[in-house]
Amino acid sequence: MKRRNFLSLGPALAGGALLAGAAPGAGAATRDRVRIGMIGTGMRGQVLLRELVRRDDVEVVALCDIEPIMLERALKMVETAGKPRPAAYGAEGSLAYRAMLDPSKLDGVIIATPWEWHAPMAIEAMRAKVPVGCEVVAGVTLQDHWDVLDAQLKTGTPYMLLENVCYRRDVMAVLRMVRSGLFGELVHMQGGYQHDLRAVKFNSGDPAKPYGSGVEFGTKGWSEARWRTEHSVRRNGELYPSHGIGPLAMYANINRGNRFTRINTFASKAAGLHEYVLREGGKDHPNAKSRFRLGDIVTTTLACDNGETIILQHDTSLPRPYSLGFRVQGTQGLWMDVNRGMHIEGISKPHQWDDFKAWQDKYDHPLWRKYAEQAAGAGHGGMDYFVIHAFISALKENAPMPIDIYDAITWSAITPLSEQSIALGFQTLDFPDFTGGSWRSRKPIFAFDDRY
Ligand SMILES: NC(=O)c1ccc[n+]([C@@H]2O[C@H](COP(=O)([O-])OP(=O)(O)OC[C@H]3O[C@@H](n4cnc5c(N)ncnc54)[C@H](O)[C@@H]3O)[C@@H](O)[C@H]2O)c1
Repeated sequence: MKRRNFLSLGPALAGGALLAGAAPGAGAATRDRVRIGMIGTGMRGQVLLRELVRRDDVEVVALCDIEPIMLERALKMVETAGKPRPAAYGAEGSLAYRAMLDPSKLDGVIIATPWEWHAPMAIEAMRAKVPVGCEVVAGVTLQDHWDVLDAQLKTGTPYMLLENVCYRRDVMAVLRMVRSGLFGELVHMQGGYQHDLRAVKFNSGDPAKPYGSGVEFGTKGWSEARWRTEHSVRRNGELYPSHGIGPLAMYANINRGNRFTRINTFASKAAGLHEYVLREGGKDHPNAKSRFRLGDIVTTTLACDNGETIILQHDTSLPRPYSLGFRVQGTQGLWMDVNRGMHIEGISKPHQWDDFKAWQDKYDHPLWRKYAEQAAGAGHGGMDYFVIHAFISALKENAPMPIDIYDAITWSAITPLSEQSIALGFQTLDFPDFTGGSWRSRKPIFAFDDRY
């Protein structure tokens, strides 16, 4: 749906806006247990499944994947945990998930498929009244984002973006620091996705398809190499914004008293992946002819209504250690994650960094204090425990999703907007107001207590 048409919905939108992230039925009873299905049981799906099967309040009742190796691995994970074997979908092909979306059998579905499937699968699930927990991103094109939003507003079916970095321990401690005013007035923030993805290697467990790699991609690839690298061939933009922008948007109260107003994106040349394929595959490898469009360093700047600026960097095709590159800076000091450094005027020695650890201990979020033991061993340093816990708890309590449809759409739409900016010669663009004006009165809800 185009923005103009969307706005012309008038009363429908006004009513719908109230429904965003709402519970499936107002006044519906809370539940002790929920029945969950999963579409896409690849590498990410299996990490999330591990969290689901160790919970007593979740029954994993249905799994769907079109790759039999991945599906079987996931089914075995459930059985190994001593739980009943879920119903299996996928043999019928790419649309097999449709048969699974039955609200009489499912209280929620987790979508962990390649990006291009997220929007259609989420829309169909919401229309079928099956609440959605969707892996990042929400969609690919700008139209996808309007369509996902429209489906959520019209159906009222809960939707949560499963953005796990919002639950990282240091990120949550910084959220408390921001809310307590430790940094003074927020002025500028940085973050991004800085992860060397050139060699996306996974063992398939099948001798006929041993490993994926950054050299073999597309149909010859495995797991993310099968689909993700194709995006680097065809697209140039901030392809993976939510790990960086999610925490920063929570700090800045985006869609809840603040909003993004303008965006622009610059992309460097694309050199890293080509050089990697030449070196690892040789000049005669078929992929040595591939020309990648994705700039190696893609830099996006966002302006906020409250006057803050935010820089995001996407950096996945050059050698580098992993870092999300966070920086949160205000009138009284700053935090940076790459050097684990803090500086607060009047407390830190002038012009010197404090080690972040002592600050983190002091501001540790109540959620982490309460659930650190349960989170131990969970994916990504424990944060995957929290994102699943939040989704399941909100479903059980019919509570608003803590990372809701507006968060999802706003963070994820950075991708198509950044592509547009680059295509227009790095032009600065208006950022759409997906909330239809309700950002002015909406109040922050994320992580305000020690429940989820
Ligand atoms: N939040 C995080 O930390 C994190 C980490 C890794 C991946 N991800 C996200 O998770 C998603 C999946 O990534 P992944 O690494 O698991 O990739 P993957 O390729 O290992 O898994 C995707 C699975 O989806 C299946 N699939 C594809 N089309 C399907 C369809 N029509 N119906 C059913 N199944 C289908 C594939 O066969 C594959 O097994 C992506 O959106 C990715 O960005 C998030």
